[in-house]
Amino acid sequence: MLGKIGLAPMAGITNYSFRKICFDFGAEFAYTEMISSESLIRNIKINEKYIPKKDEKDKVGIQIFGSDPIVMADAAKILEENGAWIDINAGCPVRKVIKKGAGSALLKDVKKLKKIIEEVKKAVKSKVSVKVRLGFEEDNFEKIYDAVVEAGADMIAVHGRTAKQMYSGKATWEIKNKGYIPLYINGDINSLDDAKVAMEVSGADGVLIGRSSIGNPWIFSDRTPSFEERLNVILKHFELLKREIGNMAVVEFRKFIAGYTKGLKGAREFRSNIMKIEDPENLIQCFVNYFLYLKNS
Ligand SMILES: Cc1cc2nc3c(=O)[nH]c(=O)nc-3n(C[C@H](O)[C@H](O)[C@H](O)COP(=O)(O)O)c2cc1C
Repeated sequence: MLGKIGLAPMAGITNYSFRKICFDFGAEFAYTEMISSESLIRNIKINEKYIPKKDEKDKVGIQIFGSDPIVMADAAKILEENGAWIDINAGCPVRKVIKKGAGSALLKDVKKLKKIIEEVKKAVKSKVSVKVRLGFEEDNFEKIYDAVVEAGADMIAVHGRTAKQMYSGKATWEIKNKGYIPLYINGDINSLDDAKVAMEVSGADGVLIGRSSIGNPWIFSDRTPSFEERLNVILKHFELLKREIGNMAVVEFRKFIAGYTKGLKGAREFRSNIMKIEDPENLIQCFVNYFLYLKNS
């Protein structure tokens, strides 16, 4: 990974448009959404939307998930030239993914995880990172870390929860960084101050920020934007998303509205109105009017 502060991978969120907005605010690197290795080797075309674009490829890691070492290696080989490095998902706790032995299920089968890392490493020239949790049911981080290093991974990122915890409780930053490879800490980092503390507590080389960046990309710069700046970011983000996915952008953009309007006067009423809008031009006008109202009140 290419700096201290990056945008964590989030399926359905960290597409090209959102990555670009986060880069504008100082994110030093980002990941794609997770890409199914099985799906990719069967049909590259339907996965094209996940592949980094030329203008960002030096800063974006491509995340793949799966459970078959050879399929993972083949997928990594197909993808590697399109991104800055390859990341292996060994943290996803979603049932559909675990059921297939992928994501955080690999934390229960460290031998398999090692084999995947080894095969992917053999298949590609680019660096290979692994994103893990502390363990599946309990904290086995030390064992997982050792396995990841032994298998030859170049970097590791850890979300300080077990898979069983999903997103409950508070993520721990108290992990043991043995320092053999760069380590990134993740989970509940909600400001640049948090990032500093998390790095101090864990001895990590950097952090990944996930949920706190949604509709709040200025988290990477740690300054509060003016109303005008906020509106400009919203309009730019929406425009990029519209270019990326067409009119579907109106619905997809709803994921960001709570974040973009957090703490603003009349936000609750505004949100309930804007969530009903289906026309892109209407959505833009609605934001412009709302920010005009905020400015004048
Ligand atoms: C909507 C959503 C989608 C996610 N998708 C992925 C994913 O595709 N790959 C992955 O490794 N982690 C994924 N995660 C986990 C995040 O990368 C991160 O580890 C987690 O949210 C904890 O960090 P945070 O507290 O900063 O959000 C996802 C999280 C969320 C909320």
